[in-house]
Amino acid sequence: RAPPCTLVIFGGSGDLTARLLVPALYNLAVAQLLDPGFRVIAVDWQDQNDEKLREKLTVSIQDFAAKRQAHATLLDVPVWTWLRDHISYLRGDFQNPDTYAALAAEIGTGNCVFYLAVAARFFGTIVEGLGASGLTREDGCFRRVIIEKPFGADLGSARLLNRDLAKSLSESQIYRIDHYLGKETVQNILALRFSNGIFEPLWNRQNIDHVQITAAETVGVEARGRFYEGTGALRDMVPNHIMQLLAMTAMEAPSSFDADAVRDEKSKVLQAIHHMPQGNLPLTYVRGQYTAGTIGDRAVPGYLEEPDIDPHSDTETYVAMKVAVDNWRWAGVPFYLRTGKRLSARKTEVAIHFKQAPYALFRDTPVEKLTPNIMVLHIQPSEGCTIQFSAKRPGPIVKLGGVRMKFDYADWFPVAPSTGYETLIYDCMIGDATLFQRADNVEAGWAAVEPALEARAEGLAPIRPYVAGTRGPAEADTLLEGKGRSWLRLR
Ligand code: BG6
Repeated sequence: RAPPCTLVIFGGSGDLTARLLVPALYNLAVAQLLDPGFRVIAVDWQDQNDEKLREKLTVSIQDFAAKRQAHATLLDVPVWTWLRDHISYLRGDFQNPDTYAALAAEIGTGNCVFYLAVAARFFGTIVEGLGASGLTREDGCFRRVIIEKPFGADLGSARLLNRDLAKSLSESQIYRIDHYLGKETVQNILALRFSNGIFEPLWNRQNIDHVQITAAETVGVEARGRFYEGTGALRDMVPNHIMQLLAMTAMEAPSSFDADAVRDEKSKVLQAIHHMPQGNLPLTYVRGQYTAGTIGDRAVPGYLEEPDIDPHSDTETYVAMKVAVDNWRWAGVPFYLRTGKRLSARKTEVAIHFKQAPYALFRDTPVEKLTPNIMVLHIQPSEGCTIQFSAKRPGPIVKLGGVRMKFDYADWFPVAPSTGYETLIYDCMIGDATLFQRADNVEAGWAAVEPALEARAEGLAPIRPYVAGTRGPAEADTLLEGKGRSWLRLR
């Protein structure tokens, strides 16, 4: 059970709070992981009061529980009533010192987690307000701040933000969230690699040909046009989520699961990412943008026709890139990364492509025709792991066929799905920062994409259109140059 704590949510009447944070708190309450003294103060500028907010959250929690019905029973009413009665609302402007004075009076002494579920432009202001009003002082209690993404817009702004935060907080008080780290299957990459003896000996340049990391979505920009226009697929997904997947896949074993030991190893591997030489950019970086098409049997508009989008926008909705990790384990092993919206399937996975058998023993099946050995770590929507290899087809003639061995999470550990935020909020309350990004992790993620940002600024990475509902721009195929390499199909 977490220690007694007040959770202050800035942006408390917003979408993230209703859709993910409060359902996560409800799940923690169901699991009896919240202290009886736990409470939430939602801070926002809107004209709202305790009762109105509680009613709104009751509607969204009912939706959430309804979606879970296949796995669990209906809403646990006594638990929800308890949680709801521990949520209150404080109206305030984030730029006004009175807001922080009112908050200080309301909180008094005691443990507190401040959750910044607000637009990035408020991060600095809020932390400064908390610092100036004494709310970040840890006199016999803890005071921690959870910061959502986007953490900066490039390396320079991420550094500045880190420097601003450090004026009011020590690094141990800062919990930078990347919701991918709350996903069970992302955490499982480390469990799979470091709790088994069979994978790690193969996990290196001697045995691995290349690695593909995919985060494909079928959704478009939805109602987030204004945010997305200034962000694009690269900033939205790569320095954070994709780099975390890469780090989990490629990092060395930490000396312990202590937060800093894990984060040291992540930083090391992210810092080893090879910066693409500008001259080779067409070979290493592709940007795409979706045009009108169909998803399933539904016609969808192109990016330029979406609400709040500049009809001449140069913002990308897809990126594919090739990076190298320059260290002893990975020298010469390309990592191919791709992410995009309005693709043909929703699928996040890491695929480890092993080298082929060294010699063609089966004359009817030359080495290049053998089924490639691929280990796919399925992150979502299916969760688990598949290994693909060759086997003999039954019959008097020796012929080979490709087969798959599959581990499905749901078969072994059937649990109600979580939002991913349960672990993150709970870990922050107990002071475990392992699944949060340290300042140097965030900066290393940005540094790794800096050449791609520069390439766009210099006009070296033009937009390649792709039809919504397809696998993305064909130009991305040219990244996987070399013998028999191709992107795994998006189905
Ligand atoms: C968010 C991005 O961080 O991650 C979104 O801002 C994206 O654009 C989302 O859709 C993807 O998250 P998930 O958990 O659906 O893979």
